[in-house]
Amino acid sequence: MEMTNVIEIRVPRTLFGVGATGGLGDLVRSLSATRILVVTDPGVVEAGIVDTVKGVLDAAGVGSDVFDECGAEAPATVIEELGRKAREGRYDLLVGVGGGSVMDTTKAAGLLAANEGITVQDLVEGRTPEKSLAKVLIPTTAGTGSEWSSAAVVTTDTTDDRTYTYLTTANYPDAVIIDPELTRHLPPRNTAETGVDALTHAIEAYTCIRANLLSDMYASTAIRLVSTSLGPAFAKGPQRMEDRYRLAIGAAMAMQAGTLAGVGLAHFMNHALGKKAHISHGSTVGLMLPYVMEYNLISSPARFAEVARLLGENTDGLSTMDAAYRSVAAVRRLLTELGMPQHLSEVGLTEADIPHLVEELVSLQAFPIAFMNPREVGAKEAREIYLKAL
Ligand SMILES: [Fe+2]
Repeated sequence: MEMTNVIEIRVPRTLFGVGATGGLGDLVRSLSATRILVVTDPGVVEAGIVDTVKGVLDAAGVGSDVFDECGAEAPATVIEELGRKAREGRYDLLVGVGGGSVMDTTKAAGLLAANEGITVQDLVEGRTPEKSLAKVLIPTTAGTGSEWSSAAVVTTDTTDDRTYTYLTTANYPDAVIIDPELTRHLPPRNTAETGVDALTHAIEAYTCIRANLLSDMYASTAIRLVSTSLGPAFAKGPQRMEDRYRLAIGAAMAMQAGTLAGVGLAHFMNHALGKKAHISHGSTVGLMLPYVMEYNLISSPARFAEVARLLGENTDGLSTMDAAYRSVAAVRRLLTELGMPQHLSEVGLTEADIPHLVEELVSLQAFPIAFMNPREVGAKEAREIYLKAL
């Protein structure tokens, strides 16, 4: 338990509940916005969600335009185009409607729009400005938690085949709408992948070396909410609104836990792995999670035993270490039930890819891993973890 570290808690202004999208008109008026650019991607448009959002804005008498060119993992070219469009069009509010990539594109473009001359490369190199164009984030998946986070993932257009995470408080939205209704028709595959991402945030935060009383509160509740609701929402999402509801708030809580404590190795391994294997962020972190848990377990068996109980495992009569191992088994079972990949070979990687993955991971070593992961990790250990995951 970290006690000497000063933590700051920020929860963005948030409307939460089924039908909360209906409150967007009042929200936008309270932000004094008059020219709104709705930021989204073609999938969200096709799902009819943009029509819903525009309908609410029209009814409130606020004009809006739509930018629907967001791509997976927030490519720099799209962010820069959106930043330019927002600035030249004199928009005063961005409304990001979509999953993590849309929300992260909105965050980065908000910074570019408000600070002429700043590029995506500046952001990933830590030259983050202090002001942003106003933004409202409306997630259409339950998982990434980007709506409650100062972090954003972007892809630069260099050829190094990886994504980057940068942090700045200017990324915090002015307001958030979490409406589980928008996730009602999310396909089972996306439900599983984004839900596993949320579960990974929660488990990694709970077992992070910087875990604290506040992060524990969010992480433990999130582990329970996500692990109990993900199966039903995956199996029969449109009819499982109560599970969608629990999943939606669980995902935001999981991210809050990650912000207050940190995440772990599964997340740091994601940057090179996701690009190399061409799989989603949720698939990548989920694939690595059990191997990372197994590796980290020795650092804090009592914490992992508690994770097992939060995942619904009966640990009565077990030693702390045996109970801790149950947490890994429970995650593996859930991944199996959800049909998620559990081996690198399943996503097209071979042993020959491991040196690149290790190299990319070690290049991140300086700051975040030693700072957050509960067990030291060097190149040799990372290689062993990847080999086990093969
Ligand atoms: Fe994540």
